[in-house]
Amino acid sequence: MKPIFVTGGAGFIGSAFVRQILEATSDVKIINFDALTYAGNLENLNDLDAARHQFVKGDICDKDAVLKALPDETDAIFNFAAESHVDRSIASASEFVMTNVLGTQILLDAARAKNVRRFVQISTDEVMGTLPEDDAAFFTENSPIEPNSPYAASKAAAEHFVRAARETFGLDTIVTRCGNNYGQRQFPEKLIPLMISNAMNDEPLPVYGDGRNVRDWIFVEDHARAIWLAYEKGKSGESYNIGARNERQNIEVVQSILDALGKPHSLIKYVDDRLGHDRRYAIDAAKTENELGWKPLTDWETGLQKTIRWYRENQDWVNHIRNGAYRDYYKKLYGMEIAQSR
Ligand code: NAD
Ligand code: DAU
Repeated sequence: MKPIFVTGGAGFIGSAFVRQILEATSDVKIINFDALTYAGNLENLNDLDAARHQFVKGDICDKDAVLKALPDETDAIFNFAAESHVDRSIASASEFVMTNVLGTQILLDAARAKNVRRFVQISTDEVMGTLPEDDAAFFTENSPIEPNSPYAASKAAAEHFVRAARETFGLDTIVTRCGNNYGQRQFPEKLIPLMISNAMNDEPLPVYGDGRNVRDWIFVEDHARAIWLAYEKGKSGESYNIGARNERQNIEVVQSILDALGKPHSLIKYVDDRLGHDRRYAIDAAKTENELGWKPLTDWETGLQKTIRWYRENQDWVNHIRNGAYRDYYKKLYGMEIAQSR
């Protein structure tokens, strides 16, 4: 069995990745190292094969815990662990610097100490800042690094430390930069699951600013496959942009969700804009498509239907979150209560 070490595997994308790799391979054993912050959820992992998936609760900022859990000669570290929500980084940035920057550096040091063959850093298109609206410009791997939110700045800093580990110590590294993911098990603070769960509960759907900001959406399983291909086929030291060429204005996304659920557009509530709100993300994934032989398999209409169906069929999963500490966060950010769900 080939050991791989996945951090943040109890979160949204990490758990989709773990699930996919266990299904797609037979010779890989996963150590899933996750601190179980508010975003980590063991319910995301409860049906996995224990013989090939070992969960370890631990913080990537805790050097001793990382070294204890990471076997010598591990084939790869996949670093998904992060504080991932832009709004939270605007409210308080320090946790983002700790986990996203210091945590990444601790993993890089551990990778060298334990002779790990390859380090895969899961980064984001947000490190490249924002693009003009109504423009043909796209993010490429050569776009300048111009992060605008504290979250994006912390992910950009992490990328720099990954690069430094390669240039200084010769560590074999890959960076992937994906756009906005959607799919099953995404924490309901993010646009799509927030809008689905509010609509299901007939609560207002808070749209920032004029609702015309553009995001480039990709189904989470397509992202997970691209990461695996980057690990298998990617060239050391390279970055790979991942995107499904699926730009949508936020308002269009929200209206599609309401239509799919048969709910009125009057639930939409325009609220104050996010500070420093990036206007448009759009990814040119040609390098990933050409060099890794990857392409997205799930189109937007199918992916959104699948996602909505999952949230409808897993209301307990959402309600466990909506009835917990998330209530306080929601009230603070939006100045409104969410109803207690049964
Ligand atoms: P998430 O917030 O759903 O999950 C993050 C996971 O990391 C959680 O399980 C949490 O418990 C864990 N974690 C947080 N701090 C930790 C720490 N100090 N030590 C160990 N574990 C810790 O995030 P996500 O949306 O699944 O994103 C995963 C990764 O992908 C992140 O690195 C993010 O920057 C990147 N990314 C996300 C998107 C997106 O659209 N969500 C797009 C591109 C890249
Ligand atoms: O692009 C990749 C990034 O996508 C990831 O790196 C981040 O981890 C992930 O959170 C996501 O960042 P965004 O800020 O783009 O995602 P979010 O779901 O928070 O917001 C998507 C868009 O919807 C954005 O333009 C803000 C808007 N929005 C969001 C929320 C939560 C609203 O209009 N209302 C809301 O309540």
